[in-house]
Amino acid sequence: MSDIVLAAHDLHKNFVEGALRTEVLKGVTVQVKRGEKVAIMGASGSGKSTLLHMMGGLDQATSGEVVILGQSLTNLTQEAITGLRERHLGFVYQFHHLLPEFTALENVILPLALRKIVLKDAQVQAQDILTKVGLQHRYHHRPSELSGGERQRVAIARALVKNPVCVLADEPTGNLDQHTAAEVWQLLLELNQVFNTALLVVTHDERLTRHVDRVLRMEDGRLL
Ligand SMILES: Nc1ncnc2c1ncn2[C@@H]1O[C@H](COP(=O)(O)OP(=O)(O)OP(=O)(O)O)[C@@H](O)[C@H]1O
Ligand SMILES: [Mg+2]
Repeated sequence: MSDIVLAAHDLHKNFVEGALRTEVLKGVTVQVKRGEKVAIMGASGSGKSTLLHMMGGLDQATSGEVVILGQSLTNLTQEAITGLRERHLGFVYQFHHLLPEFTALENVILPLALRKIVLKDAQVQAQDILTKVGLQHRYHHRPSELSGGERQRVAIARALVKNPVCVLADEPTGNLDQHTAAEVWQLLLELNQVFNTALLVVTHDERLTRHVDRVLRMEDGRLL
């Protein structure tokens, strides 16, 4: 099997609204290897989130190709793309996007339930990963009853419970104080070590660049 888990080839993205056409990605090529840690940095508006969306199959590129585990998304149905994404990728956002009515445990069980895993097994897996992120005492708390760092740890647990080959994270610590941000980073790096999950992380935090394998700089829709 190829060592590359996620790739983009000459990706272009234009947004068109009426007469207004915005060229956001201008030919981006990037490859992420199994277990590799890659950071993307760049000024606000340079296209980092857009790139992450395209690579996660959340939005369609104008031209170019995204490949997940050797499978090109070009010409796949939306349903097939969703399937690939749910099986192989995990997402962590700046704001946790947890479901407010659900407990920590239920939020982590959800991606497994979507994959039709037997509830009892899903529960065991979810408890296991919540324990790994240090939240064994918070299974039954709702997001509003958790601290910011705890919420982000639940979000990481939710992204990792499916054992994805790659986690795409968009400023996962952007909303946290310095100390909590450092803890969340530590956790992501540990999980990368333990599960060999590749990380593709958008961040503004220069300190992080010491801990990743590669830092990509984005400028005006291009990777330098
Ligand atoms: N749906 C859209 N329609 C039109 N333009 C868009 C759309 N989404 C993003 N853009 C434009 O694309 C550019 C890049 O946006 P993007 O969110 O990728 O930037 P970013 O690098 O993630 O910035 P930040 O660091 O502020 O999060 C911005 O100038 C934005 O205005
Ligand atoms: Mg962004």
